[in-house]
Amino acid sequence: MTIETRLLKMMGNGAPVLEVLNELCSFIDTQAPGAASTVFLLDSDGIRLRPVAGPNAPKTWKHEIDNPEVGPYAGFSNMAGEQERALTVGDINIDPLFAIHRKAALRAGLQMACFRPILSAKKQVCGALALPYPQQHRRPEPDSEMMERAIHLAAIAIECHRNEQELRELSRRLSQSQDDERRRIARELHDSVGQMLAALNMNLATVRGDLERLAKTANTLADSENLVDQMSSEVRTISHLLHPPLLDEAGLSSALRWYVEGFTVRSKIKVDLDLPEDFGRLPRESETAIFRVVQECLTNIHRHSGSPSAKIRLRQRDERVTVEIADRGKGIPPEKKEQMASSGAPGVGIRGMRERLRQLGGTLEIRSNGNGTVIEVRLPISQISSSAGVLEVTDTSHAAA
Ligand SMILES: Nc1ncnc2c1ncn2[C@@H]1O[C@H](COP(=O)(O)OP(=O)(O)OP(=O)(O)O)[C@@H](O)[C@H]1O
Ligand SMILES: [Mg+2]
Repeated sequence: MTIETRLLKMMGNGAPVLEVLNELCSFIDTQAPGAASTVFLLDSDGIRLRPVAGPNAPKTWKHEIDNPEVGPYAGFSNMAGEQERALTVGDINIDPLFAIHRKAALRAGLQMACFRPILSAKKQVCGALALPYPQQHRRPEPDSEMMERAIHLAAIAIECHRNEQELRELSRRLSQSQDDERRRIARELHDSVGQMLAALNMNLATVRGDLERLAKTANTLADSENLVDQMSSEVRTISHLLHPPLLDEAGLSSALRWYVEGFTVRSKIKVDLDLPEDFGRLPRESETAIFRVVQECLTNIHRHSGSPSAKIRLRQRDERVTVEIADRGKGIPPEKKEQMASSGAPGVGIRGMRERLRQLGGTLEIRSNGNGTVIEVRLPISQISSSAGVLEVTDTSHAAA
């Protein structure tokens, strides 16, 4: 296996650059007997060349020559300006290149040296190969082809190493910038979004408090709405009962049907309304009077009779309307009958009905016993005001219908 194959294999397997260069130096030392080859690498400052490999080179010399306090290696760094020129063999005793390191070289027993720059692919100095010899004038210049091959291999190894370093540096910088970016975003998140979230959280807590208070308010509101609904319905009913709009618009028949229906629902008293289909419209006062009479009679049945049912019968014949309201209740008590007979009537209801009818020339008759009460109304519809209506209170032996 040639030295090239061996070294390239080592590099391919990822061997450290120093190991590769040491291997190269060992090879050179076998090719140039007596030489203790040393490879120098250009430092990161681009000025100093530092000995890094050379397993056979005297350790004291390598150590002394690498003293960073001494400063730039004038001789070696000069090569950067004379890249193409190889310094062949020089006498360490007199060569100006050894002005600084002469003593160290002599102490290490070195007498002469051969230096060659190691150039990168871009023809930049990246290192140097030194072949120092302990004996003066004993050695000729080493085989130049072997030197070329060695320098070429050293250049490949150094460039490989540098590329790896650059890659490592790049990936370090990438990680660094990722870290920096993450740190910046984290700070931003903490300082802006975090603060806003904290504020939002406080707002939400306030809203929750408000909602809890509002929940109580909402109950009150729902109660109030219910009350308003009930009141509106009550007001509507009261208003309709005070004066049903149907009475004016659709007439007595419709108003009575509407009223009786509502009364049945409210009182649970079954009412049979006997009203001819063709019962026509009457003068307004007559319709109102009859409606009020039916209203009062049904109210009295509900309040006083105890009857489970009632019957209303309306007839219109020969310009006269008759209305009969009967129940199956307990009848008007005797003392009330007496009061009615003597002073008129005990309550406002019956007296009011009678007065209203009297103004229209009508009459109201009451028949009542223990089986029920019948109120009978007669009303002329000619609208000719007649004399006072007659109130008769008689006992009847038959139950009201
Ligand atoms: N259908 C009925 N069945 C039994 N008793 C009745 C009936 N209608 C009236 N009465 C009796 O006749 C009385 C007089 O009735 P009236 O309608 O004049 O007065 P009221 O109903 O007591 O009071 P209001 O002035 O509020 O109408 C009643 O108090 C009641 O005792
Ligand atoms: Mg009454």
